[in-house]
Amino acid sequence: MTGPRKAKSTRESPATVTFPADFLWGAATSAYQIEGSPLADGAGASNWHRFCHTPGMTEEGATGDVACDHYRRFAEDVGLMRWLGLKAYRFSISWSRILPEGRGAVNPAGLDFYSRLIDTLLENGIAPWVTLYHWDLPAALDDRGGWLNPDIKGWFSDYADTVYRALGDRVNHWMTLNEPWVVMDAGYQFGVHAPGHRSPFEAARAAHNLMRAHGAGVQAFRASGRPGQIGLAVNLEPKYAASRGSRDQAATRRADAYMNRWFLDGALRGGYPGELSEIFGEAWPEFAPADFKLMSQPIDFLGINYYTRGVVRDHPKGRPLSWQAVKPAKRLTSVTGWEVHPESLTRVLGWVRERYGDIPLYVTENGSAFPDPPSVRGKTHIDPRRVSYLNAHLKAAQSAIAAGVDLRGYFAWSLLDNFEWGSYNKRFGLFHVNFATQKRTPKASAHRYREVIRTNGVALSLSGKPA
Ligand code: FCB
Repeated sequence: MTGPRKAKSTRESPATVTFPADFLWGAATSAYQIEGSPLADGAGASNWHRFCHTPGMTEEGATGDVACDHYRRFAEDVGLMRWLGLKAYRFSISWSRILPEGRGAVNPAGLDFYSRLIDTLLENGIAPWVTLYHWDLPAALDDRGGWLNPDIKGWFSDYADTVYRALGDRVNHWMTLNEPWVVMDAGYQFGVHAPGHRSPFEAARAAHNLMRAHGAGVQAFRASGRPGQIGLAVNLEPKYAASRGSRDQAATRRADAYMNRWFLDGALRGGYPGELSEIFGEAWPEFAPADFKLMSQPIDFLGINYYTRGVVRDHPKGRPLSWQAVKPAKRLTSVTGWEVHPESLTRVLGWVRERYGDIPLYVTENGSAFPDPPSVRGKTHIDPRRVSYLNAHLKAAQSAIAAGVDLRGYFAWSLLDNFEWGSYNKRFGLFHVNFATQKRTPKASAHRYREVIRTNGVALSLSGKPA
């Protein structure tokens, strides 16, 4: 493939912040968001396929039927990764391509797709980082209760075991789940993601089964005898109180327990924060002590997905949650409505180290959606806000390293504009995708990231801010 052309640089930067020599530069995607062809070659439907095909669930009926057509264009996409200079690529496996019914018979064509992708990555010197579950559950398992059915622990570990055995000769880094909080909150509490349920009773149980499945997935990995490392990817969002008032302070502690401590305390401390029973009230069940042992199996690294912070106000009448998010005035927000707040990335990395000790960390997602202006002569999309988001967050990550945090890598979200769980108009890609033609065009942020990787650093302007 002929790589996209290099953008002209008009300015010499006086200084750079540099990263450790072996820092891992990557980019991330997920199966349902980019692959398309969801039912090809014997794959079973996923709950996301079903959700998108249910009228009214997504914007203008958007689906992942085509997405970025990565299922058929993966070789071209690996070429883009190579041009960027990526050392690692984080992607997820679609469970229902491997096990169309979610359990039982294996579909060899599904495994073969990922096997070819992995071979192509390795031929290009890019390490595969594999997430086993990035939200697309086999629809056949959803029919059996999905994350509400306690048996899902075994379904997940059997699936994981199949994948370790088939691909574990070439994959050294695994993540069990991506963002269990979102599955619980968006899928079972507020119903905006598949499977579209709205119940605090279900949310509490789904979350617990996600964590049991995580533990069983780690256990199966150790039992498989495959070399390599396994971790979990969580989304974290530092919470700040809207005022000094005690009610807002208490609400902020609840919001922090719900979003940040729930899954990390489960995985790394073998317990849940006390605030959760207060938040859920009668919807909060008793959990078996053995489950906590299972979910807190030692892991090798932690993946942190960071996008924004949250400012919290008490909201006693709120249902099902007794707090609300406040949009801080005069701050830049992205198309997703998320405030741009790079300082909180430094803060959250430091907080993880303080609370959970020195586990190796990776930023497994970070990025921003802004409306991109049209490309310049069809070559490059100039996306200054994404460039400055990238720079500022890399600088923030480097500050955490300088303060002693064991941060070993960074994965930009996302390689490509893609299906953002309900629409195609929240574009996070380093590469612009024309969804009518499937043409990929690098954005200025892709050029910038390439330069960051090449120099292992971020250029600073005269003011000391990222250039
Ligand atoms: C994260 C998801 C990812 C993508 C980004 C924008 O929560 O893991 O799939 O949607 O947000």
